[in-house]
Amino acid sequence: MKNIRNLAILLFITLIFSFVAGCQSSTEGEASAEENEQQPILIQGPMPIEAENFAAKLEDVEEETSGNFVFYKGKVDDYPVIVMKTGKGMENTAAATAIAIEKFNPASIINQGTSGGHDPDLHVFDIVLGERTVNIGSLKTGHREDGEGIAPKEWIPMDLMASEGSAGEDPDAENIRYFEGDKELLKAAKAVKDTHEEGKVVEGTIGSADVWNNEVDRIQWFHENFGTSVEEMEGAAGAQIAKAYDVPYLGIRTLSNNKTNGGEYNPNTAEANQEYVYEVVKEYISNRK
Ligand code: 5AD
Repeated sequence: MKNIRNLAILLFITLIFSFVAGCQSSTEGEASAEENEQQPILIQGPMPIEAENFAAKLEDVEEETSGNFVFYKGKVDDYPVIVMKTGKGMENTAAATAIAIEKFNPASIINQGTSGGHDPDLHVFDIVLGERTVNIGSLKTGHREDGEGIAPKEWIPMDLMASEGSAGEDPDAENIRYFEGDKELLKAAKAVKDTHEEGKVVEGTIGSADVWNNEVDRIQWFHENFGTSVEEMEGAAGAQIAKAYDVPYLGIRTLSNNKTNGGEYNPNTAEANQEYVYEVVKEYISNRK
């Protein structure tokens, strides 16, 4: 009799435990589904003037730093958005992108800021949506002996992602590597083109390298051979790392200068670009919801 009572108590306790455990695991399941929906959107800007306007628009902001990089973690329309001040150039951008992906598991990345025009039809305050981004510093020179000089127009593109073999010897590496802009981000950006009143918004090709080209003939050479609309110093570096992790990515660049048509440098373009990117982010969030 006593044994049966003990067995009944044991059974009762086991039942209670499994009920509590069941409740817990279903709460955990719901939380992780919610967390997945709430993967943040990352907005990258190299210089203070290219990141701080957007950061000031975030709700409930917390600041975090890692190395030189500053992350402003906040919300837009109740959705998590992280603005990152990456610093200028390819190396800063590649490192900041990898760190941010590892830390925050973002849904997508927008790299934005100023640029110089390669297309004479584009003017200061116009905006280019990076349908494609390309590294215009990844080049291989021709073969020339001692005293034969240099011939930059003979340089050919070099694709560092073509294979794991020598990029200098592999003929498969003598191609231009374009990184495609994400379709969903592009869709959101196209839908709010009209909100940018200071200039036009076009789809195009963003070229990047740690170089500021002021030689108009060289700029035209890139425009003709790589199809570049603008140049800057970050987009292709972020795109390469985003691709390595399979994270959707888009470059959005305003022209702050254009040597091909006399467009003088105007730093106010950086703020106007952030205003536009803010509209893109709101549209993208409403599509996700
Ligand atoms: N060439 C290269 N980078 C430019 N930038 C703006 N205009 C140009 C240009 N004509 C941007 C770069 C970098 C900073 C120097 O300004 O992306 O962040």
